[in-house]
Amino acid sequence: MLPRRRQARVGTPCAVSSVVRFPGVAIYLAEPRMGRSRRAFLTRLALSKGFCVLDAYSSEVTHVVMEQTSAEEAVRWQDSRPAPPPGCTRPALLDISWFTESMAAGQPVPVERRHCLQVAVPREVLPNPIWMPLYACQRPTPLTHHNTRLSEALEVLAEAAGFDGSEGRLLSFCRAASTLKALPCPVTALSQLQGLPHLGEHSCRVVQELLEHGVCEEVERVQRSERYQSMKLFTRIFGVGVRTADQWYREGLRTLDDVWTQVQRLTQQQKAGLQHYQDLSAPVQRPDAEALRQVVAEAVGRALPRATVTLAGGFRRGKLQGHDVDFLITHPEEGQEAGLLPRVMGYLEQQVRASCPPGWALLLPPGQRVTPAPPQGLVLYQQHQRRPSGDPVHQAPKGRSMDTFERSFCIFRLPRPPRATEEGTPSPHPSWKAVRVDLVVTPISQFPFALLGWTGSKHFERELRRFSRKERGLWLNSHGLFDPEQETFFQAAAEEDVFKHLGLAYLPPEQRNA
Ligand code: UTP
Ligand code: MN
Repeated sequence: MLPRRRQARVGTPCAVSSVVRFPGVAIYLAEPRMGRSRRAFLTRLALSKGFCVLDAYSSEVTHVVMEQTSAEEAVRWQDSRPAPPPGCTRPALLDISWFTESMAAGQPVPVERRHCLQVAVPREVLPNPIWMPLYACQRPTPLTHHNTRLSEALEVLAEAAGFDGSEGRLLSFCRAASTLKALPCPVTALSQLQGLPHLGEHSCRVVQELLEHGVCEEVERVQRSERYQSMKLFTRIFGVGVRTADQWYREGLRTLDDVWTQVQRLTQQQKAGLQHYQDLSAPVQRPDAEALRQVVAEAVGRALPRATVTLAGGFRRGKLQGHDVDFLITHPEEGQEAGLLPRVMGYLEQQVRASCPPGWALLLPPGQRVTPAPPQGLVLYQQHQRRPSGDPVHQAPKGRSMDTFERSFCIFRLPRPPRATEEGTPSPHPSWKAVRVDLVVTPISQFPFALLGWTGSKHFERELRRFSRKERGLWLNSHGLFDPEQETFFQAAAEEDVFKHLGLAYLPPEQRNA
């Protein structure tokens, strides 16, 4: 059956005709509190997204949407309409929140109790004014929160600002998003943002549009733009940062195929990134990270007894997916960790080559165009970064954020269980996938700082360092905490000590998702 076409007439000169994508849903926007022009705007928005909007209340209406209307008023309004024909039910009386959420989702969201006007649901509301500390490291930020739609929109603008090299705007949007992530309830009105830190005029405008229409024009425009899409594509390539991506964009490159035409210019890292692009751009799952932890721990244990492996990054904060897996390696005796990494890498290669099923090497990953030879062992790519020689204590800690630990940027070949077909014969899907792994070796004296620095989130770390510098006059990075006046380093045995020394309440990793 062809989709129905329906025309809405809402007293607007530009009534839109569009294809109805959701045949079971017919919306009526009840005008009293809405105003004509706003109703016309919302109607055009809904039609453009394929919703059916009726201009008159009738028995065809399935969803009545009202704004700023109490449940009592809504019921009185409905009672004054003609009763439905026998056997027909009355349409649902819904708050505008159902409408805005549906517009944001691009489809009708299921009607929940909180959307319904018939029942007065006691809503959890934000106390007004709400107090929130200035720095993200001063407040807990859980992984899942109440304002995802708002924070994600602001993070798109932050990312786009980063692509344009506007560090200031990037930080402003990140801070605004982070404030919203820390709120105990959903924001339902702009007035609730009053007094909250870092919600500037621009961020408030974005929030307002999202609250009123379910979408923000600026965010949609950015996401649709060629610039944003290409920059996102390029910066997802392992080894490609904003500067390289920007240069490619300015040279007219837009797609991965365009990048392949320039393959001779790429670094080894970028070539590996391009070669495994498909696998590496798919999220790594928590069980994958756990499987890798075991493999790495075994190799580390063989290379140096009593050396330990700790999972850091997003997975330590409780994330279920990530773009890579970050491991910290250390040994309880200072100095024993020296020279460990090459041995670990050696074991990782041997161990897996021995356990490879015959014929595995014939299964090449999709898009493998650079190296025709099949990859060997677990390690598809590695780039070893040595620790610079000299006094390790004074190398990095002067406020610079890049650390100088010995590390290996790797791509590992993670075996996948064969996917059985209906007949029981294995399907020809690749028996492994490429996963980005960072191995970082730290002396035990620096381990608490390295763990704190490598657990993230990136924004949490930025805020923690800014707090240390501005509020305490101390310089923090992944190597240590330095007092520039006394010229001394603070000794810590655990992350908790660092928080304590900074006068901050301890936040467990799950509360650092700023
Ligand atoms: P990631 O970029 O891996 O982020 O850095 P993540 O939080 O784990 O997120 P996904 O899931 O992989 O995308 C983890 C932490 O390590 C620090 C970052 O600042 C972040 O806090 N890091 C990363 C460094 O200190 N140095 C680096 O070279 C890379
Ligand atoms: Mn990570």
